[in-house]
Order: sequence, then C-alpha cells, then structure tokens
Amino acid sequence: MRTEPSTAGTTAAAAAVVAGRAGRATAGDATAVAHPNIALIKYWGKRDQSLVLPWTSSLSMTLDLFPTTTRVRLAPGAGHDTAALNGVPARGETLRRITGFLDLVRETAGSGRRAVVDTRNTVPTGAGLASSASGFAALAVAAAAAYGLELDATALSRLARRGSGSASRSLFGGFAVWHAGPDTGPAAAADLGSYAEPVPAVIDPALVVAVVNAGPKEVSSREAMRRTVGTSPLFRPWAASSRDDLAGMRAALERGDIDAVGEIAERNALGMHATMLAARPAVRYLSPATVTVLDRVLRLRREGVAAYSTMDAGPNVKVLCRRADAERVASAVREAVPDGTVLVAGPGPGARLLGEGE
Ligand code: DP6
Repeated sequence: MRTEPSTAGTTAAAAAVVAGRAGRATAGDATAVAHPNIALIKYWGKRDQSLVLPWTSSLSMTLDLFPTTTRVRLAPGAGHDTAALNGVPARGETLRRITGFLDLVRETAGSGRRAVVDTRNTVPTGAGLASSASGFAALAVAAAAAYGLELDATALSRLARRGSGSASRSLFGGFAVWHAGPDTGPAAAADLGSYAEPVPAVIDPALVVAVVNAGPKEVSSREAMRRTVGTSPLFRPWAASSRDDLAGMRAALERGDIDAVGEIAERNALGMHATMLAARPAVRYLSPATVTVLDRVLRLRREGVAAYSTMDAGPNVKVLCRRADAERVASAVREAVPDGTVLVAGPGPGARLLGEGE
C-alpha cells in the first residue's frame, strides 16, 4: 500500500479498505457499504463484454454521498437467488445481473448455495449518478464475505469489475485508477491485470453535484458504450487521447494543480460525449439544463473560480472545484437551475464490511 501524502483521504481509505477483515460477518451473512465514484478520466467502451475489460484505463473520485448498503445471506435449500432493491423485489435484467454476479462468487467459493440480497440505495438509480458502481462494490464485498472468500482489495476490485466496470473503483476511497490491463496475450492475464488501486493526490477538492433530472435514462450506459465502440468514428481518437489525459491527470493530482485536474477532466468528459453524439444512431444524454450549468461554470471561471464540469451517462453535471469554493459554486449552480437539486460532495471512503449492530 502506498504512503504518499494525501489530503484527499486516499491512503487512509485504502488502508481501511474491506478485504473481509474490517468488519465482522457471521458465516453466510454479511453486510457491506460502498459509495459511488465519479470518473475524472472516463471509462467508456469495453474490449471484452463478458470479462468487463475496458478499452482504456480510467480515474475517479469516490464521493462521501449516496452510500449503498447491501446484505447477502446464504439461503440453504433455496432453488434460486432473490434480491430486493430498496424493498422492491428485483426482476428481469436487474435480477439476472445480480444472479450472474453471484454465480461468479459461487464458482470461486466452490458453493452451490443460493442467496438473499437486500440492497438499500440512496442514489437515484439509473440517472447517471453511478448507482451501479456503489451497488456492485457493496455486493462484491458482502457476497465475498458471505461465501467465505478471503479476498484482498485488488481481488475484490477485480470481482466488482465483473458486475459493473466502474464498481472496481468504488472499492477505494479518495482517488482511484482502474487499469485497463494488458490488451494482448491470454484473456486470463487481461483479467488479472484489470483492477483499481488508490492514486496519490494532494488536492482538497469538492464535487458539486447538480441533479437536473433524476429520472431513469432512455439508453443504458451499457448499450450506449457498445453502440459507441461499434459505430462511432470518434471512438478510437478519443480512446487514444484519453490515455494521454490519464498521464496528465495523475501528474496534476500529484502536484496539486486543481486547474490542470479540472481542465483535463472537462475535456475528457466532453470528448466522451462527442463519441456518443457521433454514434449511429446518436446517443445524447446532455439536456438544455446540462448546457445551462456548463455555461454557468464557464462564467465562474471568468470570475476567477477554478470550476470544471464533468458528465456521465445522464444530463446531471458534477462540478470539480476547491473545497473552499464549494459553497460559492453550489449557489451559482442553484441559481442557474432553480428546479434542480444541488449537493456538495467531498472525497469519500472505500467499501467496507459492516460489523454487527452497525
Ligand atoms: C459514463 O460502469 O455503469 O459513468 O461496466 O457496463 O456496468 P458497465 O458500465 P458502468 O459505466 C460507467 C460509465 C461512466 C464513466 C465512468 O464511470 O467511468
């Protein structure tokens, strides 16, 4: 584990990260909590759908908002898995994804036992606010413990990746990089090489989250990235520039240069959206309210505030700024989109098991 200085809580969170030891889980029953993360260098496009291997490495900040808490209990004798999301039984594609993920855990654990999954999500599901990241990070940690797997943080990150790519990064607090892994050679080597780990950072940031539309999206990010890789002439050039962006981002985080961090994050996100706009048919997540926030952020910069935008697979905008400027940025954004909800997030902790009674 690294020990570089960090004001973003990176090393502390990495040390506290899960690994099945931070909390107590009774055999066959474990509960874990994980937070969403927002990518500053985006993951967009898989080179292997079933192993969830990305075309490019990505880098994110875990938030201190919207935790997901997931309990996994083994159900001896049950013929199938059951799952509930905020008390509502999961069905269809959602249940299939959870069962497919539990199959992976069972395969590793050599178990055939089915499970009962209970998930409490505080982030609006499907709104481009990374609910699948906190969801599968919490599920990976809880399921691994319930099935008695002793996995370290790297192995848990690799496992979470199989549920949802971005979940690999939510294992860690502060900033984390998810390595794409080797793109030549056997699939097993690529699988082993594709995991997240903490990155050193000496900035004290906030992400002002502007929720301009919390409804579910029309095209899932999974489908949108598949279409983009398959049809967008802009995908390859963006992927190439994203590799350079990552190197620049890591250097900027290490020297504490928030303007460089923000500039790189903003151009990387706009580039990702450009790849989707050029897909056939186009995928457009950005709405008029998104553009209103983007314009306000540009004006904030002209007013001398270091503020930079990033958007995921949805219309909501996350504005990176210094923690000291967060309230000023938040009130400017609130005025710009009075119908939206604006929240201030800081760097959050890594995923962990909960002890009894927590
Ligand atoms: C735009 O991790 O949700 O938020 O691996 O298909 O589950 P799957 O995709 P997911 O995609 C996240 C895409 C993004 C960018 C990012 O978080 O890096």
